[in-house]
Amino acid sequence: MLPETLLCLVNAALIQAATASLSLNAILSLNSQDIPSPPSFSLPAAQNLTITVAYCSSETVSTRFFVTNSTTVDDPGPDGGTDVYEITVNQGLGTFSAPFLDGGVLAIDGTLSDDFSFEIAASDSGPMHEVLATFPLLGDTTSNQALLFSPPFDPPIFIDPSYPNYTLPGPSLSSPLPPDSSPNFTLLIAPTSSQTLTSLPQTACMMASQTSSGNIANESLWLRDEDGWRTQWLMAGLSPQTNYTAYVIQDSQKLSGPMYFVTKSAVFACPLAAFLPYCPGVTYAIPLPPPDNSELSIYDSTNLPITISDILTTYFTNFTTTLTTQACGRDYYSPLQTCADCQRAYFRWLCSVSFPRCGEQSPSTTTTTSSSSIGTSLSTGLPSPTSALQAQTTSSVPRNPTFSPLNMTYSVLMPCIETCQAADRACPNFLGFACPLARFNANQSYGVGYIDGAEPDQQGLGIPGQAQDQWGNVWCNFV
Ligand SMILES: *[C@@H]1O[C@H](CO)[C@@H](O)[C@H](O)[C@H]1NC(C)=O
Ligand SMILES: *[C@@H]1O[C@H](CO)[C@@H](O)[C@H](O)[C@H]1NC(C)=O
Ligand SMILES: *[C@@H]1O[C@H](CO)[C@@H](O)[C@H](O)[C@H]1NC(C)=O
Ligand SMILES: *[C@@H]1O[C@H](CO)[C@@H](O)[C@H](O)[C@H]1NC(C)=O
Ligand SMILES: *[C@@H]1O[C@H](CO)[C@@H](O)[C@H](O)[C@H]1NC(C)=O
Ligand SMILES: *[C@@H]1O[C@H](CO)[C@@H](O)[C@H](O)[C@H]1NC(C)=O
Ligand SMILES: *[C@@H]1O[C@H](CO)[C@@H](O)[C@H](O)[C@H]1NC(C)=O
Ligand SMILES: *[C@@H]1O[C@H](CO)[C@@H](O)[C@H](O)[C@H]1NC(C)=O
Ligand SMILES: *[C@@H]1O[C@H](CO)[C@@H](O)[C@H](O)[C@H]1NC(C)=O
Repeated sequence: MLPETLLCLVNAALIQAATASLSLNAILSLNSQDIPSPPSFSLPAAQNLTITVAYCSSETVSTRFFVTNSTTVDDPGPDGGTDVYEITVNQGLGTFSAPFLDGGVLAIDGTLSDDFSFEIAASDSGPMHEVLATFPLLGDTTSNQALLFSPPFDPPIFIDPSYPNYTLPGPSLSSPLPPDSSPNFTLLIAPTSSQTLTSLPQTACMMASQTSSGNIANESLWLRDEDGWRTQWLMAGLSPQTNYTAYVIQDSQKLSGPMYFVTKSAVFACPLAAFLPYCPGVTYAIPLPPPDNSELSIYDSTNLPITISDILTTYFTNFTTTLTTQACGRDYYSPLQTCADCQRAYFRWLCSVSFPRCGEQSPSTTTTTSSSSIGTSLSTGLPSPTSALQAQTTSSVPRNPTFSPLNMTYSVLMPCIETCQAADRACPNFLGFACPLARFNANQSYGVGYIDGAEPDQQGLGIPGQAQDQWGNVWCNFV
């Protein structure tokens, strides 16, 4: 037990040491001019406090950040001591978590250059600054446009109907209402060749200060798949055959990316399709002539030829009718799957085969495009696969007869066979749904072996194990 006078002195020293304080769950923005003297901050108490440091400018600095959760240390620094820790900053971001039962102190060590700015935060609910584990998602590109998506939020909750009133929804003719609140996502893209973005501190405040290439033609919330809602951007004004780097900033605090995508060559003629409520995953280029009456130069539910959507909704309705001839919800055909699962899987498959996707072969092995990749995969050392492209000439029969033949040659990026197999697995046998077998001719109508291996029991064993990656490669169409 310390004598009372000494205790007072210690407390006085503490109060004097940190003249500034960091509030819980708030971000403090600082630059070299507004550093307090002494350069330290008292920290709030929390069971598990996460302290983050984010650089917002690109100067290289020799500054170091030290924290302590001990009440007996008032100036944590490089000399160490009991419960003195350094926050190591990597690519502009530093994160440290520990119990701060009695609060603590954060101290800045070293000199700051004049233009240096940064943010610090202390939170009791995980890091406030963060590089998110989920990447932005590419829909597709044309020669000068791109459809891009933020990471997902608010996944939909499916409530299956129950017997005896087992009523399945019909094809959606309008999209569901977006949630009341959503994260504030901002998109940033720049040509990859300039290397500007990836060499900067990988923080939200740094990226928010950069200017984006292209222009946002449309920004909206879209429930693309069961992963949840996403902000969807239609970017216009991009350059053909260019590799772009994309980041998404969430609420000016968190960063998703970098993700890469490649625009198509100048001769690529297929327009993008999006905003189709009955096929929400169709967000890619389709083989139709350029749309009339479209401000955005894309096909959506208002200008898609009615013959295409009519036949599709009839298929949906007829399928649902046939499916519910069995006692859904009373007689179980599978311990794992329900009629509602079957219907969702069938709709996805039907969308992927009804809307052929245009793709493009890479012009050379050095400049690969978003739908093809030739070369060696660094991670596996295996040759990376080529995309499931199939050439269509003016005399080819269109893959969907309701798409009128086009007076041009193009390539179709075939659907991933897993879309078909998912419907096969989810649906009762009596429907007679079956997929072609990989060992026969499945590769004439589907992309085979990308997500799963070629044999039925090789789930997740395909090369590259996915339909597309964050480097800009797309191997097959997964709706
Ligand atoms: C300080 O942090 C250390 C390491 O995480 C922990 O063991 C200790 O209990 C903490 N002390 C206080 C007073 O929170
Ligand atoms: C403290 O929070 C961080 C960040 O959310 C987390 O990674 C860590 O596991 C937590 N520690 C404890 C002991 O709960
Ligand atoms: C059956 O369910 C549907 C959709 O949930 C509902 O609209 C309908 O009113 C229900 N019918 C009866 C008889 O409960
Ligand atoms: C979203 O973030 C951007 C950039 O930080 C900001 O300009 C905009 O006002 C924010 N929007 C909302 C609705 O908060
Ligand atoms: C984006 O495009 C969709 C479909 O054309 C339209 O409904 C929506 O109003 C547009 N949003 C904005 C912000 O322009
Ligand atoms: C849907 O069912 C109706 C009535 O049974 C039938 O006339 C129509 O041909 C079917 N349509 C398709 C696309 O199968
Ligand atoms: C098809 O394209 C060729 C060459 O561009 C043109 O001469 C021909 O008239 C076109 N045919 C139709 C039916 O548009
Ligand atoms: C399909 O696979 C067979 C053998 O596995 C191969 O010979 C053929 O070229 C492939 N066809 C296509 C269109 O990829
Ligand atoms: C785009 O550029 C990145 C970074 O150089 C590279 O890793 C990626 O493979 C490129 N993507 C394509 C499809 O060429």
